[in-house]
Amino acid sequence: MPSHRDALLHGRSSGPRRHAVEPSGGGLMPFRSARGKLYSGRFAEGLLPELERFASSLSVDLRLAPFDVAGSIAHARGLRAAGLITEEQLRGIERGLGRVAAEIAAGEFRFQETDEDVHTAIERRLTELDPDGGARLHTGRSRNDQIALDLRLYCREACARLTRALAGAAAALADRAVAAGRLVMPGYTHLQRAQPVPVGLHLLAHAQPLLRDAARVRHAYQAADEMPLGAGALAGSTLPLRREVVAAELGFGRLSANPMDAVADRDFLLDLLHAGVSIAIHLSRLAEDVVLWASSEFGFVRLPDRVATGSSLMPQKKNPDVAELIRGRSGRALGGYTALVTVLKGLPMAYDRDLQEDKVALFAVVDNAEACLEATRLLVEELDFDAERLAAALEDQGLYATDAAERLVAEGVPFRRAHHRVAGQVRAGEFRAPWGPERSVQLRRLDVAAQARAVRREAARLRRWAEANPPPLPLPDTVRSR
Ligand code: ARG
Repeated sequence: MPSHRDALLHGRSSGPRRHAVEPSGGGLMPFRSARGKLYSGRFAEGLLPELERFASSLSVDLRLAPFDVAGSIAHARGLRAAGLITEEQLRGIERGLGRVAAEIAAGEFRFQETDEDVHTAIERRLTELDPDGGARLHTGRSRNDQIALDLRLYCREACARLTRALAGAAAALADRAVAAGRLVMPGYTHLQRAQPVPVGLHLLAHAQPLLRDAARVRHAYQAADEMPLGAGALAGSTLPLRREVVAAELGFGRLSANPMDAVADRDFLLDLLHAGVSIAIHLSRLAEDVVLWASSEFGFVRLPDRVATGSSLMPQKKNPDVAELIRGRSGRALGGYTALVTVLKGLPMAYDRDLQEDKVALFAVVDNAEACLEATRLLVEELDFDAERLAAALEDQGLYATDAAERLVAEGVPFRRAHHRVAGQVRAGEFRAPWGPERSVQLRRLDVAAQARAVRREAARLRRWAEANPPPLPLPDTVRSR
């Protein structure tokens, strides 16, 4: 059974819509007070209800709750180290945050309309449970550096998940390549038959881009691995905050250098989204190959029922919907990336509320990449190559024309002349292949088995990295162990 921590960290906890929303004071009130707001001291009236809903990000950022709680615990320990709260106050805060996290994980958290984001909701509830601790927790902190921290914690976790999913898809391609054994197929350029290739070589050609994506994801992890707290709203704090303590609590590799940049920077999101786009584009190309192969015209693979769908109207149809969806969902990735760069373009230093939009794009791209990698893995495992159709396609003599020209070169004919001679035979309809697909492939020393082994090794290495990273968060026992 998945733990609550898993449920929280992997977005399987129930969203706020499934929780009761408490009206903040009964029915239709012409004027709403700013009570419940973190900034209520400055405001006599609350935001218009319609605008409250417009401005709220809770439905999107609730999934950051475990990171927000862990970040708050680390921050509180930093406040303790700085002598800004007592040991007892720290224990109260940790206990309260533990209870809040447990309530959220269990779907028992009661949200209020004034909870405009996850930070507000958690602090509000903590304050109900522990008024003094709730009042002290935000010392030296702003929601601007708080959200930067939450996002960085989320990104590290997302990078580990994506790395695991990339390893799974790449390993599935390697396994399928090995299982394909000596099976050969026509290779294409310009979607015209070019030269025979081992089926395994073609499959592994789709694994290499995924391994490069893993390097992109690793880069995104490094970019996210920086601790922004201490920046405050934008300009630091007069208080003796112990940033290095907070960073150590959360296992961050370094501290942000400039507080204004720390709250404005979303480059680490761009890096992760770029990796997500790259993954989606690569999977769309693999999916397109599967769609082609499954067509009657190619007929290179049969799609087992487990990975195919039918038509509601045409009784004979067996459609490659899964591959088409993987191909089509690249739109989500590109859309998310475009949305985020558009938000960032021309934003004045430092924090602007526009940045709240980053999360919609972030979650869409990460969720999409993870889902498509998993679907691809399942699809690849089920690919059933049709040896007879492949053999028939390999009778196309033209596939061996390059081999014939190279044989002439081996006999001492200059390549350009050899090319010309074979081309003349093809044009005259007189060309005959010097040998068949096995010899053609063998002569080109395409060591598929060695390549498959290397891909598997790399996938195992990636999995090991994803097991060890990111470092565990200081989550309360209520979340960890229940
Ligand atoms: N919900 C906000 C976001 O996602 C958190 C920061 C809000 N800061 C502020 N000054 N209103 O960006």
